[in-house]
Amino acid sequence: MKPALTKIGAQMSNLTGVRAIMKDIVETLRASAGQELYNLSAGNPLILPEVEQLWRDCTADLLASEEYGEVVCRYGSSQGYAPLINAIAKDFNQRYGLNITDRNVLITAGSQSLYFYAANAFGGYTVDGDLKQIVLPLSPDYTGYGGVCLFPEALVAYKPTLDIDAPAHRFKYRPDFTQLSITEQTGCVIFSRPCNPTGNVLTNDEVHKIAALAAPYNVPVLIDSAYAPPFPALNFTEMTPVFGENILHCMSLSKAGLPGERIGVVIGDEQQIQVLESFQTNVGIHSSRYGQAIAARAIESGALANIAEAVIRPFYQKKFDVLESTLDAAMPKDLPWFLHRGEGAIFAWLWLQDLPMTDWEFYQELKKVGVIAVPGSTFFPGLQEEWEHKHQCLRISLTGSDQEIETGMLRLAKVAEQVYQRATVGV
Ligand SMILES: Cc1ncc(COP(=O)(O)O)c(C=O)c1O
Repeated sequence: MKPALTKIGAQMSNLTGVRAIMKDIVETLRASAGQELYNLSAGNPLILPEVEQLWRDCTADLLASEEYGEVVCRYGSSQGYAPLINAIAKDFNQRYGLNITDRNVLITAGSQSLYFYAANAFGGYTVDGDLKQIVLPLSPDYTGYGGVCLFPEALVAYKPTLDIDAPAHRFKYRPDFTQLSITEQTGCVIFSRPCNPTGNVLTNDEVHKIAALAAPYNVPVLIDSAYAPPFPALNFTEMTPVFGENILHCMSLSKAGLPGERIGVVIGDEQQIQVLESFQTNVGIHSSRYGQAIAARAIESGALANIAEAVIRPFYQKKFDVLESTLDAAMPKDLPWFLHRGEGAIFAWLWLQDLPMTDWEFYQELKKVGVIAVPGSTFFPGLQEEWEHKHQCLRISLTGSDQEIETGMLRLAKVAEQVYQRATVGV
């Protein structure tokens, strides 16, 4: 039976952005069973033995404790499990010299739901019928922002400027402050730092500048720190989290080995935290208490931050090094290819300037040689204007083995060479 859907029902049951591509990828993987495929599309983190062991140890500790029944047999507060909130407040106060209390922290059911609460609490229509925008100051950005607002017309993204180092075949996106507009019509601002899909890390100056533009209008700025220090610490360049009165510092334990437990964290102003907490009560009551209880142990002991620095970061940084050196050696020097500076996260972002076909067609060409990466055009949620650059990029996941990344990039280089060559000879 096909149910009749409301406008919101139709919109929310749509697959947006990368989810639509993932369907094609899953079907490709299924259809090519037995065939050798280099799947460099995944956003799912790998299971690292040391990280898995940490969560096993924390679970054993929880199972042996008297707390167990209270954790799993009872509902708790929507704000989150108190020992986890206290552990985070203490850790952040010590680490970053803050002065936060338990009232400044909210635990959500994964950080994706946190962006859904914020997008709809701060963005969309006011009681007076005015549209409050959700501003993404630097496009491309996390594809998941594309589906979070019940009123998609609220989402507005800004084209970046490009810092290009042509001889090195590298580039970096920067926010275009000549265009970025944050006004009384802005409901909130969101960006990821480090960024999925590009690996970009906005500088502290850029972050302060964005926060300062939003401050006069009391606009919350959500800094999506899903890959940031102190955990999972997937920054390959020096970076420190930025806090402030209108900043909501948003974290996720997913890339620190707990994606299955759905734990997001937001640190910020008490009144904003309360709004998000009430939203969460209405949507889903609270996040898994089991996950929260083991996270409390890993943070309280300092083990999570240590493993993030000693294991998680170097693991993915090495993958980026393999990818970068393979491309440098294999890509023809005369092609206009540019790798985004690998400053963090678990992806590489490749720009093929003047690509003589769309990113989607290039993705199909790659599939023919057994390589799967994600066409970049899915990572520009909220960017209304046409921009050819949108169809010239590719996201490559660092979750493959070294050998998969190396072979995948060698094949990609060959495909790129052929594609540009075919275009010049007009075939
Ligand atoms: C930048 C970014 N933000 C948020 C999320 C959502 O993560 P979760 O809901 O698991 O916390 C992801 C997941 O890949 C991400 O890459």
